Amino acid sequence: MTTRDISTTPHLAGIRRLRRFRLTEQLRSMVRETELSPSDFIYPLFVVPGRNVRKEVSSMPGVFQLSIDQAVRECLTVFSLHIPGVILFGIPSHKDERGSEAYDEAGIVQMAIRAIKKEVPDLVVMTDVCLCEYTSHGHCGILRDGRLVNDESVELLAKEALTHAQAGADIVAPSDMFDGRVAAIRETLDSHGFPYLPIVSYAAKYASGFYGPFRDAAESTPQFGDRRSHQMDPANADEALREVEQDIAEGADMVMVKPALSYLDVIKRVKDRFGMPTAAYNVSGEYSMIKAAARSGWIDEQRIMMEVLTSIKRAGADLILTYFAKDAAKLLNR
Ligand code: PBG
Repeated sequence: MTTRDISTTPHLAGIRRLRRFRLTEQLRSMVRETELSPSDFIYPLFVVPGRNVRKEVSSMPGVFQLSIDQAVRECLTVFSLHIPGVILFGIPSHKDERGSEAYDEAGIVQMAIRAIKKEVPDLVVMTDVCLCEYTSHGHCGILRDGRLVNDESVELLAKEALTHAQAGADIVAPSDMFDGRVAAIRETLDSHGFPYLPIVSYAAKYASGFYGPFRDAAESTPQFGDRRSHQMDPANADEALREVEQDIAEGADMVMVKPALSYLDVIKRVKDRFGMPTAAYNVSGEYSMIKAAARSGWIDEQRIMMEVLTSIKRAGADLILTYFAKDAAKLLNR
């Protein structure tokens, strides 16, 4: 491409030529509005009981269930890639009606936090606060007569968050979508000596088909029914603003929109309206679709990965929880 083409079309003489800053990579880089960095990412980890376990999740190529020793190794890699943090999900050895291992100080996540903070102290350890991985029925809270009981579930979530804090977690992230959980967690943390521990709330979390592969990874598929009685209807965006407003009022330090790609409009509206630190979760289904299409040779995986992550940041996300974190960081660190 030359910059010295002669205009042979007189009626284009005065036209604004927006292509001028697109002609070379150097020029493009000067006007680029959105730059990704490894510090934009949080890497999700699935921790399982045992030693030396590294089991690939069949629906999420490149994602593994890891025993604590392996999770620690993974955290060293994540840290060396300049990714600031991980979010932990636990798969307990024992599930019951009340999800007791979720708030057991010797639970899988609590032990993982201790091990990771010991070996990689400067890596931010965020925890997902929910009961669905720990209950025998796979629902996010306590069930009575087939219905989720809000307030009793919230009590257990606050207990869970506190045990994460006591084990050394740097951030807790409630993902349940029950009413009042942020206030309950804030109150519990404050009254137990953790007034400076931040809460990242999954504030606008939709009842989404895009969580399918995650439920394989976390072994948290509900045994019956679905999560529509507490997660949001994909048709609603004004309601997302009310959810976010409520969580901020209850004490959330950062708010999250989840999933990311079908909800870029929600990310944008949340960021514009509240100006809060805003996270987006690039969820399992969004990851697996790209992996599957790339495996079939239908798309260029790296290119699509970067385009997707850029779009989430461009929409307004300050932080992206993504299974692509390591791959994207490797590219960006080059
Ligand atoms: C709940 C939780 C879920 C995800 C994150 N936290 C699953 C759900 O709500 O069913 C999904 C993340 C993903 O799909 O990558 N503990």
